[in-house]
Amino acid sequence: MKHLILRDLDIPNIADISVYEKNGGYNALRIAIKMTPDEIIQAVTKSGLKGRGGAGFSTGTKWSFLPKNIFPRYLVVNADESEPGTFKDRQIMERNPHQFIEGIIISAYAIQANDAYIYLRGEFPSAAECLERAIADAHARGYLGENILDTDYRLLITIHRGAGAYICGEETALLESLEGKLGQPRVKPPFPASVGLYGKPTVINNVETLTNIPPIIAMGAEAYAKIGTPKSTGPKVFCLSGHVNRPGNYEAALGSLTFRDLIFDLGGGVRGGKKVKAILPAGASAPMLTDAALDVKLDYDSVAAAGSQLGSASVIVLDEDTCVVWAAKKMTQFFKHESCGKCTPCREGTYWLARILERIDDGAGQIADVDLIANVAEQMTGNTLCPLGDFAAAPALGSIKHFREEYERHVREKSCWMRNGK
Ligand SMILES: Cc1cc2nc3c(=O)[nH]c(=O)nc-3n(C[C@H](O)[C@H](O)[C@H](O)COP(=O)(O)O)c2cc1C
Ligand code: SF4
Repeated sequence: MKHLILRDLDIPNIADISVYEKNGGYNALRIAIKMTPDEIIQAVTKSGLKGRGGAGFSTGTKWSFLPKNIFPRYLVVNADESEPGTFKDRQIMERNPHQFIEGIIISAYAIQANDAYIYLRGEFPSAAECLERAIADAHARGYLGENILDTDYRLLITIHRGAGAYICGEETALLESLEGKLGQPRVKPPFPASVGLYGKPTVINNVETLTNIPPIIAMGAEAYAKIGTPKSTGPKVFCLSGHVNRPGNYEAALGSLTFRDLIFDLGGGVRGGKKVKAILPAGASAPMLTDAALDVKLDYDSVAAAGSQLGSASVIVLDEDTCVVWAAKKMTQFFKHESCGKCTPCREGTYWLARILERIDDGAGQIADVDLIANVAEQMTGNTLCPLGDFAAAPALGSIKHFREEYERHVREKSCWMRNGK
């Protein structure tokens, strides 16, 4: 299959601007700049593209929410990529940066922004270098700066490097951090489309989302919408990791693969020929599934119907020898560490969840603790300022739902039989 997003897998050195141009690079911008901003927004809406950052919201619809006649307005790119098991945006930025930058230019033109900011995960120094070089080359060729392609449109792109907080991937905490403030989520509404960066209308999109824009313009919205399923259109990069033989990024049309295809055909199966015990479809932040979900299709609706979320499609596989109590504890400790502390259910809930899970994992738990965990997690769900509270409850709730007996056995035996080799 020809890749539309991970084009570096088909074309050596596509990160070089000359190679990118020789392979059709910046032609979509030439087409787009002759369209009106509204025509581009309509095309992106018609393409069915949904945001690839996790929430899966229609990109064209989000752009259309910007109020008319309020300027300046901004495009902010979410390149914070901090979800455990997610490493697709990094590959795009390091190996196919011009398609991403072309996507930013077309999108900024569509929303009539003259400034775009890339909020880049601080731990990605090589991505920062690749992007700095690509932006400088795009300037030199007239794709950025004043009078882009001899029109009166101008755009500057600024890279801002984060400082290592997972919560700064949440769009409003990201805006706070970009403004130089403490990275904590804002109360919504107002939404960033009306009151965003520096109080101005702002669109925030993920790296992979924007990398889909040049193919949409180049091939046309209708052709793009034929890729995937009617409700989950386009190509998607699936990040596969955990106990698999060939972890990595795999691009496929949404809905064209099942978990089984991804794990066994593309990922070479489970290490040591072991069985799949649990699947985390969206890193640590969506409820886990079991091997019963192996034949579920990888699109937004099918994974939701199976009881979880596709999110950013970072599929982590746990094999039959993994202790789920230990796995839930590790993920909960991560969320406790990353909670920004602004709201009580998340700040207190993550603390107590981690503490009870540690107790059970250490062999000091009681049977009543299992219900206590479920109770704390349920009270967090839907009651926090931002979705991190729900994310933090997911590992505990999902693991108890599918593996309650393992929790109870830890309590009865006062230890973990898997780690003790029994
Ligand atoms: C705690 C938390 C962390 C997030 N981290 C990221 C991230 O690293 N990258 C990302 O693109 N979106 C992340 N999101 C989702 C963003 O808030 C937002 O929905 C997304 O950037 C919108 O872009 P899209 O519409 O193109 O998907 C996160 C959300 C939450 C609640
Ligand atoms: S849910 Fe957690 S991370 Fe989100 S605002 Fe509340 S305390 Fe902060």
